[in-house]
Amino acid sequence: MRRTGALALGLGLGLAVLGCQRKASPPTPAGAPVASASAGPRTYLVGVSQCNLGEPWRVQMNADIEHAAAEHPNVKLVMKDAQNDSLRQRAQVEELVAQHIDLLIISPKEAAPLTKPVREVFERNIPVIVLDRAVEGDAFSTFIGADNKKIGAEAGKLVAKLLGGKGTIVELEGLMTSTPGRDRHSGFREGLAAANAPELKVAFEADMAWLEPNARREMDSALAAHKKIDLVYAHNDPGAHGAYLAAKAAGREREMKFVGIDALPQEGVRYVKEGILDATFAYPTGGAEAIALGLELLEGKKPPHRVTLGTRLYTQENVEKGGEAIP
Ligand code: FRU
Repeated sequence: MRRTGALALGLGLGLAVLGCQRKASPPTPAGAPVASASAGPRTYLVGVSQCNLGEPWRVQMNADIEHAAAEHPNVKLVMKDAQNDSLRQRAQVEELVAQHIDLLIISPKEAAPLTKPVREVFERNIPVIVLDRAVEGDAFSTFIGADNKKIGAEAGKLVAKLLGGKGTIVELEGLMTSTPGRDRHSGFREGLAAANAPELKVAFEADMAWLEPNARREMDSALAAHKKIDLVYAHNDPGAHGAYLAAKAAGREREMKFVGIDALPQEGVRYVKEGILDATFAYPTGGAEAIALGLELLEGKKPPHRVTLGTRLYTQENVEKGGEAIP
């Protein structure tokens, strides 16, 4: 793990002033339980910076973090919701540092604007776990997330198979300033290319920023522009569902297949069971792993710098059997 210990010049004032006090003699966070010498293990204050809570997948991530933390009475969480705003998320990271957190868990909205705030926390010797969406560079303790490039490539392979190597595809992208959006796109194109099927064409692509209403709107444009669409690949299940609703409103949902990513039991997996989606890939939240590895960091251990979580594929054929693991 790289620790510079240096006080980055670019630090916000509050961060610099409050953070300085931290290592010399850890102050008591307001309202946090204090561990005395006789009171068992040290109490840790863990800051969680969530980029938004508007989507079920992120609500699930927070629930996974809370559930795992509840197993450790010495872990206290402070949760922040940036409401899908990178500037707000940056300010909230500074607020968490001002509250004297011992560990930061962050799922950043976008890579570029959150890179510097994350680096500044890490350079103050506060361990940082980056979850699901990455930042640029290496200035954090551990990154935990599934391999989005691989999921995209598997989606490309599956789509080529579902279409028998021929057809018109719509790609509805997650936010392209976030790493999963970029990787799910480039992986998908590589997966399609590997199928070596020149009659397989992505005729329409648009950034729907992970949001169902945007996906629905973009799909309206795709439907207007293309008389025949064979398949929609959306970078998440809300996007695939939005596309389905648009196609249904146009009376064209039976004309095409829909593939998404996330596979929450109450969302994507249910859509597959209901015949709305043809397939979805599991995208684990990593919430439980963040608490487990966060505790390792707090106890001075050195977990790996990157932890890659697995995925599963759910299709009409295998969904009742719980999907299948992708090796
Ligand atoms: C939720 C979400 C998920 C997606 C993930 C990517 O905000 O859009 O649907 O898989 O973020 O980071």
